[in-house]
Amino acid sequence: MKSPNSLFSDRRRSSSGTGSISSSFMTHSPSTSTYSSTTTSSNKSTPGKNPVKIAAKTVAEAFVSCFTPPEPKPSSNNFGDSSDSFKAPSVASDGGSEKRRSRGRSIYASESNSIHAKEAGSVKFTMGEIYKATRNFSPSLKIGQGGFGIVYKGRLEDGTVVAIKRAKNTIHDKHLGVEFQSEVRTLEKIEHLNLVKFYGFLERGEERIIVVEYVPNGTLREHLDCGPGNVLDFASRLDIGIDVGHAITYLHMYTDHPIIHRDIKSSNILLTENLRAKVADFGFARLAADTESGATHVSTQVKGTAGYLDPEYLSTYQLTEKSDVYSFGVLLVELVTGRRPIEPKREIKERITARWAMKKFTNGDAILTLDPRLERSAANSLAMEKIYELALQCLAPHRHNRPTMRKCAEILWSIRKDYKELAG
Ligand SMILES: Nc1ncnc2c1ncn2[C@@H]1O[C@H](COP(=O)(O)OP(=O)(O)O)[C@@H](O)[C@H]1O
Ligand SMILES: [Mg+2]
Repeated sequence: MKSPNSLFSDRRRSSSGTGSISSSFMTHSPSTSTYSSTTTSSNKSTPGKNPVKIAAKTVAEAFVSCFTPPEPKPSSNNFGDSSDSFKAPSVASDGGSEKRRSRGRSIYASESNSIHAKEAGSVKFTMGEIYKATRNFSPSLKIGQGGFGIVYKGRLEDGTVVAIKRAKNTIHDKHLGVEFQSEVRTLEKIEHLNLVKFYGFLERGEERIIVVEYVPNGTLREHLDCGPGNVLDFASRLDIGIDVGHAITYLHMYTDHPIIHRDIKSSNILLTENLRAKVADFGFARLAADTESGATHVSTQVKGTAGYLDPEYLSTYQLTEKSDVYSFGVLLVELVTGRRPIEPKREIKERITARWAMKKFTNGDAILTLDPRLERSAANSLAMEKIYELALQCLAPHRHNRPTMRKCAEILWSIRKDYKELAG
């Protein structure tokens, strides 16, 4: 494999809108491949020496049509926007019109969501409950397939609608157990409006099952793929960017330990009926290094999805929060253009969407990259330029040149404020 190159040369301009772009870039494809490569875990490991293999994980993008929830939600189980809290103390910018009500308690408590906490710190399910919830893993309830396994829609005895992720820990997949533990440990700790809630898990023999909040309105990718009549408007895309920004800021500023998501991508952004975003899939999450000690986490596995991967992480295996910031930059470009990060069928210079869009932007032609389904209004054009300005910073080759996630969220807030004033 070619050594991973930066998206842009260091000669790129940082904030003024002009500059040059290196033509070098990663050549991964297809866009849905997920990296999974075992490397050494020592801080002394030589950067770039370990080959990065693309694991044979092809995500079935089966749900490309726009859809509404296949089943009405039970009235007693609203998984909408009402049960959030901002635990990270310093995420102060999240004010404005968003009403956030903190439940002030852990997600494991059983009183209000009727899920029985069988032991402190986690909610364990029995196989019987899972079979019942999924009608014996009925194919009609299958809603997706990812790296972890098959995802089913289920209904618990109390009516709670959930997503049930099922994997089998086969002999050939020794890492799955570790990944499962990682996902469980992370999910147990988090609670935020814009993060998919964890309800519980089951580990029995080869079975690994995770029960999470069912988010009813499809993934961001599915919405971006929709045809005329169902197009996500610019304001919704901006809101979604802000929601994701908040979610990742929360993870990065998590009390005690920052949490790095490691797989920010549009198919991991789930939407509610109100088009609010919830970030899913924490299977790749790892606790970040304690930055104050100067230690940098050197990953034992390179994980993530082609097209979203931080080139510096790929070449050094050093994982920091800034890898998420890079992926977020790719996501911002995706929101503006509607395109996937890698579009193999396009002509070469348009294949890597972020590179193409940033080049157009720095040449003053950003408007040519705006999703053709979006209106070319003054408000849209101005906001697009500002989002690209931010994306360019997020996509900086070196992590220290990228903004923090908190800064990204703040900038998006101000973009939205200006947007609303102009759009009226
Ligand atoms: N909590 C959820 N609510 C609703 N649908 C979900 C949920 N989690 C996953 N899905 C669906 O299942 C698909 C596969 O999910 P996942 O296993 O996380 O793989 P990936 O993130 O690689 O797509 C998603 O693309 C989505 O369509
Ligand atoms: Mg996912």
